Amino acid sequence: MSGIVTLTLSPSLDVATEVARLYPDDKLRCQRPRYAPGGGGINVARAIHILGGRALALYPAGGSTGEHLGQLLDACGVNHQALPIQEWTRESLNLTELASAQQYRLIMPGARLSEVEQEQLLAAVQALPTPEYLVVSGSLPEGLASDFMPRLLGAAKARGVRCIVDCSGDGLLQVLDIGGVFLLKPNIDELSAAVGEDILDSTQLLGIARELIAAGKCQALLVSLGPQGALLVSAEHSATIAAPTVRKRSTVGAGDSMVAALTLKLVSGADLLEAARYGVAAGSAAIMTAGTELCRREDAERLFAWMQG
Ligand SMILES: Nc1ncnc2c1ncn2[C@@H]1O[C@H](COP(=O)(O)OP(=O)(O)OP(=O)(O)O)[C@@H](O)[C@H]1O
Ligand SMILES: [Mg+2]
Repeated sequence: MSGIVTLTLSPSLDVATEVARLYPDDKLRCQRPRYAPGGGGINVARAIHILGGRALALYPAGGSTGEHLGQLLDACGVNHQALPIQEWTRESLNLTELASAQQYRLIMPGARLSEVEQEQLLAAVQALPTPEYLVVSGSLPEGLASDFMPRLLGAAKARGVRCIVDCSGDGLLQVLDIGGVFLLKPNIDELSAAVGEDILDSTQLLGIARELIAAGKCQALLVSLGPQGALLVSAEHSATIAAPTVRKRSTVGAGDSMVAALTLKLVSGADLLEAARYGVAAGSAAIMTAGTELCRREDAERLFAWMQG
């Protein structure tokens, strides 16, 4: 058993461009577009690669957009495997208005998977050599069968694979309902929505996290708190990890960089607390980069060293 596999159920082809000013009705001439691979698990695999590790990114892909996504992953040297599907891979648009320096992120719904494609995707995960970690990250496509996540996570658990899940909304609710995953990484708003409580302070947060662990919803919970860092809770841990202060350029990619660094440290044999600290360091490193860029390795390592005191 070795290595990391990431699964992205709603990958996207991200297009970034700039416009002088955003106004209705007239033609808006944009700058030359730049393309990048997108979607939670794909970004986690990219950040693992940036941090010097290896991961296989598994995802469904359709149409020319799906092919383009694969070419972009090839170009950045990320190991990947696409399951061909009928619908076209979605595109997402990051549009920066130069006059205001405001960024508009237009996100399309993910390509839907037919029943047969869902079965094929489950079979593709089963057919892989058993990974040590399976990272499931990003939104779930519309129309995913209600038993898809239970079957995916159940089969992984039966093979002894540790699952790390970063998803929000319905996906997070489903995963809590199934219970037993190795680690969940919600941010505080996602956790509030999932437990149906407005989490107002650290005492309440710690109480809720401990209840979830005691109820067997997951073995560990890493709740990210933006500039405040993160809270790690498991049967053995209860630790607040402060984020280093960094100059903020863009918050995009913080969560994915965090999950990538956490998983990479775990696979190298580090203990959960050390891995979570490296996750916080990489999350903060992603804040230092502009636009949609993920963390840089030298920033993540420098911040991690600083956090170790
Ligand atoms: N302003 C900030 N300054 C320093 N570090 C930050 C800041 N914002 C986020 N981080 C770092 O990134 C980590 C993850 O951030 P956050 O809690 O915003 O995750 P998220 O909401 O899942 O992000 P995403 O929008 O990428 O999904 C934090 O734990 C922290 O280490
Ligand atoms: Mg997130």
